[in-house]
Amino acid sequence: MALYSEKVMDHFRNPRNVGVLEDANAIGEVGNAKCGDIMKMYLKIEDDVVQDVKFETFGCGSAIASSSMATELIKGKPLEEVKKLTNQAVTEALDGLPAHKLHCSVLAEEAIQKALEDYYSRQA
Ligand code: FES
Repeated sequence: MALYSEKVMDHFRNPRNVGVLEDANAIGEVGNAKCGDIMKMYLKIEDDVVQDVKFETFGCGSAIASSSMATELIKGKPLEEVKKLTNQAVTEALDGLPAHKLHCSVLAEEAIQKALEDYYSRQA
């Protein structure tokens, strides 16, 4: 069996929603101290729905594929659903990641949760 699924390779080669979202109202940046990879998520939230999302990831292929898939999973979704997004859901949507690459999908979960925290702190 190949180390990486077709979906991982597809999202790594053709990542969806890459870039900076100029009118984002929720931004989350996280990093992994061990590998040094960094992921930044930009969300535009309106009426409690993620209207748009983009990401910038300086990291490994699995981190890029995880960010790309995560943006697809939360785009157009209500915040109640986005709050529950786990790295397992990202990994499953990618048809799996090798065990030593699971931490890359954790970055996607964390970046989105951090963006939500940013959103709520701006509302306060
Ligand atoms: Fe660190 Fe993938 S190796 S995020």
